[in-house]
Amino acid sequence: MVEENRVILKYMGQIDPESLDDYLSIGGFQALRKALKMRRSEIIGEINESRLRGRGGAAFWTGFKWESVAVQTRRPKYMVCNSDEGEPGTFKDRYVWETVPFQVLEGMIIGAIATGIDYGFVYVRGEYPWIYRRVEKLVNILRDEGYLGSSILGSGYSFDIEVVQGAGAYVCGESSAILESIEGKRGGPRVKPPRTSVVGLFGQPTLVQNVETLANVPLIIKNGGKWYASMGTSSSTGTRIFSISGLVKKPGPYEIELGSATLGEAIQLAGGVDGELKGVIIGGASGYIVPPDFLNMPLTMEDAERRGISLGSGVIVPFTSDISVVDVVLNTMRFFEQESCGRCTPCRGGTREVVEIIEKLVRGKGTKEHISLLKRWGKTMMNASICGLGKSAPNMLLSSLKYFRNEWESLVG
Ligand SMILES: Cc1cc2nc3c(=O)[nH]c(=O)nc-3n(C[C@H](O)[C@H](O)[C@H](O)COP(=O)(O)O)c2cc1C
Ligand code: SF4
Repeated sequence: MVEENRVILKYMGQIDPESLDDYLSIGGFQALRKALKMRRSEIIGEINESRLRGRGGAAFWTGFKWESVAVQTRRPKYMVCNSDEGEPGTFKDRYVWETVPFQVLEGMIIGAIATGIDYGFVYVRGEYPWIYRRVEKLVNILRDEGYLGSSILGSGYSFDIEVVQGAGAYVCGESSAILESIEGKRGGPRVKPPRTSVVGLFGQPTLVQNVETLANVPLIIKNGGKWYASMGTSSSTGTRIFSISGLVKKPGPYEIELGSATLGEAIQLAGGVDGELKGVIIGGASGYIVPPDFLNMPLTMEDAERRGISLGSGVIVPFTSDISVVDVVLNTMRFFEQESCGRCTPCRGGTREVVEIIEKLVRGKGTKEHISLLKRWGKTMMNASICGLGKSAPNMLLSSLKYFRNEWESLVG
């Protein structure tokens, strides 16, 4: 039986997350003290050696991102901790904040020192008001104790953090829309290039990093990049916290060493499902819907890529044969129609058209041509949308057309 390997969530329920003493008692801030004695390039070297990849969805190499901000000479430089967690089905970052919030803040401070960043923002999902209040409280404690502010622990390095509350827009989790939102504007994606590492918040170099990614940083610095890379596979090192929900018996966050479990084993870890498994939503609403053939897929980024899908933000939602795939896709596309910022036609018009076509099919008024049209709209959105929202919105639709074709065709007789 596969087991969890809790590295980030090791102390879940065992310490008071708001107590600095409790955090210090489990080795908290040892990594920061170590980092303060290292050269910036050495810190980044450890992150590179760990082969850590971002946990927000795109799985980009963290060390590479840090290097691209470190080489920027314009000041000030900013960091944004992306705690928007808007992807439907994702709730892992919430549990990181509920277990080791100081560890995320320590990761931010280490990242700032390594890349020469002056000021950071934690952007908290609007629907998590208690986390917003908690982070604000802990930032004040760290400032009082000399871990934030000018000359951190007497080192000469200065860095401070401000907490911002989101307002409930899914698109604000996108790495440039979040900057617009922090600047006080309507949250919408910017056209790239330039990349945010060069022209980011208030036009300055900016590092945007997910909560779980940052929580890994103190562990890597304390134990070494090599230690971290010894977990997982060469392209998917460390652990990931999977948000497993849907029809499983024990929904929740499950921290699993990458490559140590298959998709099916992860579902079993969460108690399995009652009834006949029909499929699994993987990666979130912007992810994929796959049949039981995928149960033997090892949970690594490369295994997912090889099968033409992605682990996204680590969502796993199994469902049984009484659930209609078409209903799931319709519900998901309605979400995207509502959350599209409206800036570009393929996404604004595409989500609307797809919803209308599916509604027609469900009412029994559709034809085979409508199913072909759905595929064409999906491809157009994927290829021509400006940002990741529109590009990934049709993933579930297209994967359902590929793997659950019969269900679609049954609607047209
Ligand atoms: C529409 C959209 C929503 C996103 N929402 C989130 C989010 O809520 N949290 C997050 O960390 N990343 C989110 N991302 C990914 C970010 O753009 C970015 O890749 C990530 O924050 C970078 O951090 P990482 O490298 O540590 O993963 C979203 C992307 C898109 C396109
Ligand atoms: S893809 Fe959608 S969310 Fe992104 S810019 Fe275009 S309309 Fe806005």
